Amino acid sequence: MGKTIIVTGGAGFIGGNFVYYMLNKYPDYKIICVDCLTYAGNLSTLKEALKNPNFRFEKLNICDKTGVKKLFEEVKPDIVVNFAAESHVDRSIEGPEVFVDTNIKGTQTLMEVCRELNIPRYHQVSTDEVYGDLPLDRPDLFFTETTPIHASSPYSASKASADLLVLAYCRTYKFPATISRCSNNYGPYHFPEKLIPLMIINALADKPLPVYGDGLNVRDWLYVEDHCKAIDLIIHNGKIGEVYNIGGHNEMANIDIVKLILKKLDKPESLITFVEDRKGHDRRYAIDPTKIHEELGWLPETKFADGIEKTIDWYLNHKDWWQEIISGEYQNYYEKMYGGK
Ligand code: NAD
Ligand code: DAU
Repeated sequence: MGKTIIVTGGAGFIGGNFVYYMLNKYPDYKIICVDCLTYAGNLSTLKEALKNPNFRFEKLNICDKTGVKKLFEEVKPDIVVNFAAESHVDRSIEGPEVFVDTNIKGTQTLMEVCRELNIPRYHQVSTDEVYGDLPLDRPDLFFTETTPIHASSPYSASKASADLLVLAYCRTYKFPATISRCSNNYGPYHFPEKLIPLMIINALADKPLPVYGDGLNVRDWLYVEDHCKAIDLIIHNGKIGEVYNIGGHNEMANIDIVKLILKKLDKPESLITFVEDRKGHDRRYAIDPTKIHEELGWLPETKFADGIEKTIDWYLNHKDWWQEIISGEYQNYYEKMYGGK
């Protein structure tokens, strides 16, 4: 029988991709997106989904317990998947408070409502950033699910706090939850404040590409659809109370990604501008995905060479989507962050 799934943060990058993935894969499921549309939430991301009778959008803040409870009572979800978050590290350094509100208090509010209504299943979308970072000179080291939590930024500290609350709810209340910790995603609908879309869009406009520090920081990139597939497996077959790391062993230095984008767009490397480093900048992330592979049979399917090609093509073919974003409020943020650099 078809399930009803609440997807919080579904007007954002990964949540939006997950909405489409689930609507396509499960034509008998009902998908309800809960999103309060912050600067990062965009209804135009859900334009096609909104035409699907199995999809519904609710503009709602996950910290609003009364509103959340009323909706959950009405739709009686089988599963709640929480993507809603403040997700940008640089913004968390400028203003941490909203990260505490949404990422910690919002998570706790959702879990409390689920508990009161006996919702059978909850999934928390977390991040590899909760593990802190790894040194560049130890390529043999990877994050496993038992690596100690060691967050560096207000963003990662807020996500780590939420994870601890989820695990505490599992133990104390036998709360039926799982957690996934994924590495850096890339793909369609990625907000242009993040490295890959920012560099594509700046290169297209022949604007400087701001690379932090020495550009040698390493991230472990995963095509967003592979993340969606992993979450689908976890919510259907994952073990309650467990954490699953998600990543595809695709480590790359920032500077190499930037150079690759310039090459694909036939733009000169002289556009690269080294700027002041991010405060507390994590050096290297690298996920060991053995557990999700062995327990749930997950493996990444999109190779980086293909994924980055598809992503660049998507930005070239969806200029309306990102031009609308960069012409508005985001422009003020850009001036504040990079104006003096
Ligand atoms: P995003 O910033 O693109 O989207 C976040 C969405 O949440 C937006 O639509 C926003 O409007 C919504 N939102 C924010 N605060 C809300 C609130 N209080 N109530 C309701 N909705 C709210 O983020 P993303 O990159 O898609 O990340 C989604 C999740 O995945 C986050 O939890 C993030 O920590 C996690 N994650 C992201 C990555 C990545 O590479 N982007 C990797 C691993 C994990
Ligand atoms: O690892 C998962 C995390 O990946 C998620 O939890 C976060 O929500 C997501 O934003 C992402 O965090 P990062 O900080 O790794 O992503 P970001 O795109 O901001 O930066 C990637 C790298 O590029 C990082 O080393 C900083 C660098 N960078 C970023 C920007 C925006 C630059 O050099 N220049 C830039 O202008």
